[in-house]
Amino acid sequence: MTTREECRALDEADVLAPFREDFILDDSLIYLDGNSLGPLSHSSQSRVRHALDVQWGEGLVRSWGSAGWMDQPQRLGDRVARLIGAGPGEVVVADTLTFLLAKLLGTALELRPDRSVIVTDHVNFHSDLYIAEGMARLSPRPVQVRAIDRDHLDDFLTEDVAVVMLTHVDFRTGEMLDLSGITRRVHNAGAIMIWDFAHSTGAVPLDATGADVDFAAGCTYKYVNAGPGGPGFAYVAPRWQSEIRNVLPGWLGHVAPFDFEDTFRPAPGVRQLVTSSPSVLALAALEGALDVWDRVDMNDVRRKSLALTDLFIELVEARLPGEFGLATPREHSRRGSQVALRHAEGYGMMQALAEVGVIGDFRDPDICRFGFAPLYVRFVDVFDAVERLVGVIERGEHRAERFRVRNAVT
Ligand SMILES: Cc1ncc(COP(=O)(O)O)c(C=O)c1O
Repeated sequence: MTTREECRALDEADVLAPFREDFILDDSLIYLDGNSLGPLSHSSQSRVRHALDVQWGEGLVRSWGSAGWMDQPQRLGDRVARLIGAGPGEVVVADTLTFLLAKLLGTALELRPDRSVIVTDHVNFHSDLYIAEGMARLSPRPVQVRAIDRDHLDDFLTEDVAVVMLTHVDFRTGEMLDLSGITRRVHNAGAIMIWDFAHSTGAVPLDATGADVDFAAGCTYKYVNAGPGGPGFAYVAPRWQSEIRNVLPGWLGHVAPFDFEDTFRPAPGVRQLVTSSPSVLALAALEGALDVWDRVDMNDVRRKSLALTDLFIELVEARLPGEFGLATPREHSRRGSQVALRHAEGYGMMQALAEVGVIGDFRDPDICRFGFAPLYVRFVDVFDAVERLVGVIERGEHRAERFRVRNAVT
């Protein structure tokens, strides 16, 4: 079993170790929930302060032009593009993820007018399922949602399928799907592929261009570290840029917003997906987060992510044999950057663990989720987290009466 001294040595040799200094983190806390909400960086803090005090406080309305507020959706989109393997002009930052999925579903349905089915995964994140139903209801022609078992996707790729929408890394288990293989199979069936990159962006290297992805959307508050409720982003492949139509058009997707024309004339390309005014303060936080990401090599992130998740699985199985079921695939090619452990008393386990300074989270029915964000999680944190977990179980703290009733946020 890997020792604490060996973990220290791994940290000393780690090329990403200096990035921990970019974040404001309490050293007594082991934060393994960056798959839900990433921590505050110094650069986000100073970007937001500057946007508040100088751009808004002093510049007032003049800052829409002088501080570049108007250009934020594309300017920051170009920087997010690097994280997903896209090029400049292919990504915009706007809204939040669910709204962007709605827009992409709407345009995809219009691009396949003779087809009438949206295929998605029955264990997809619930917002994806709800918005697919909502967009089907809003469609001017009858559209049906088929929530299927993704392991049997090929059986459902029939001629009536207009669009397939899947989440690349499963929010519960952390299983990563085959981006290019699935996209190819969906294309062979004549359908359009929409990927949800919520748990992939900043977690695993992505190659939207190489995988021939049509459309994708993601959020920035998880591994990207842009703060609670941080903006979403949407990717549109170059071949679709002149074909898309925003089904929720607004003035900022107009080619000339300040002409105030009565008829919507879309801006070229992905910019037309912007509907309304940018959330300037949230975008300032994202800009700060991207100041960190601009210095990061995603291959380093992947190497360390796999080493951290391997180490966690190894230590849990060595120290607590038989206690948990492993919901996350062992194969590297099928693993994102989180480990999910199944336990019948999982909710109490995660609450008790938080009380001893290890933050993860719980997802129904029995999933204990641990996110390993390589920019700030150390090997020694993994070791200490497992030791604290052993302590919780030995002392029976997860069975405490106060954990019988669940909090609203788990
Ligand atoms: C996979 C996935 N899709 C969609 C969403 C919804 O994102 P938003 O609340 O930004 O719309 C989440 C949120 O955590 C998610 O994990």
